[in-house]
Amino acid sequence: MQELRNKYISAIADAADEATLEDVRLAAVGKKGEVSLKMRELGKMNPEERQIAGPALNALKNEINSALVARKVSLADAALEDRLRNEWLDVTLPSRRRGQGSIHPVSQVTEEVTAIFADMGFAVAEGPQVDSDWYNFDALNIPDHHPARAEMDTFYMYRSESDNQPPHVLRTHTSPVQLRSMEKMGAPLRIICPGGVYRADYDQTHTPMFHQVEGLAVDKDISMANLKWALEEFVKAFFEVDEVELRFRASHFPFTEPSAEVDIRCSWAGGQLKVGEGDDWLEILGSGMVHPKVLKAGGIDPNEWQGFAFGMGIDRIAMLKYGIPDLRAFFDSDLRWLHHYGFGSLDQPSLQGGLSR
Ligand code: PHE
Repeated sequence: MQELRNKYISAIADAADEATLEDVRLAAVGKKGEVSLKMRELGKMNPEERQIAGPALNALKNEINSALVARKVSLADAALEDRLRNEWLDVTLPSRRRGQGSIHPVSQVTEEVTAIFADMGFAVAEGPQVDSDWYNFDALNIPDHHPARAEMDTFYMYRSESDNQPPHVLRTHTSPVQLRSMEKMGAPLRIICPGGVYRADYDQTHTPMFHQVEGLAVDKDISMANLKWALEEFVKAFFEVDEVELRFRASHFPFTEPSAEVDIRCSWAGGQLKVGEGDDWLEILGSGMVHPKVLKAGGIDPNEWQGFAFGMGIDRIAMLKYGIPDLRAFFDSDLRWLHHYGFGSLDQPSLQGGLSR
């Protein structure tokens, strides 16, 4: 019995891992283990022998079992120690930031404008950025050799001589989408169209690509009053002010009659723009009543329907609202600029939740 004890207690102490320990357990106290077999022999003993051997074997079995448990615990502790040593992590290292992208001011303002006009029942329409000369000019009452073509610094697309397609341009404004929407949807209709437009121009407030949003409402009795109301509602909501004064200045666009450029009252006191107060005026858009020729080109009978339209620079109103001094920086993809002027990707502008927060 002493021999058995020495053998297994030292085997347990020597077991270097749980698998070896399990082998030792089976060899000692498993069903066919040495100690178990010895216990079976108790039955063949005479009562005197059994009285001595029985308790001694039980004590041995208990001692081996507790040694097994103790060894198991210390092996597990050692394994944990080992993992902790190996899976070492320096939590003081600077983290690698996730989701560091941000929403570009142009996207943010596009969403804001969309939310405001959606509330007034305007759907979002889109058109191609490479468009035919007809959609960009002719259909908008800007015939060939009209001075407006030269004024727009148009980018013409190259086409080979053998190509019989009409000339194409990079659209110089979003107004061609007026025509496409009229063709597609007919009257009545209420759309806005945000998107990229192109003109060969480059300085602090001009880039060859920029963004506009077009608005168009066609119905039976649309008047300048509706245009005025819609724009006033828009400006108040967009600049997040309660009152704002608009100035409609008579102007000229070939595709509207009458036409008006719209200024808003503002102050530049201390170099900071405040909308709705002060003695300055800031031009923000062109607008007017859709010219009958344009309605006709869009397949809508001008004797039955009329409409208003406007076109506004998205980048320009983004600069004004968020105090961004140089338009060119919008398109430099400078990460520092994007971090500074960008918006959180989870902050969706909405009229209920707040536009810019
Ligand atoms: N398309 C004009 C521009 O780019 C703006 C405009 C749109 C004016 C609709 C009147 C009506 O300057």
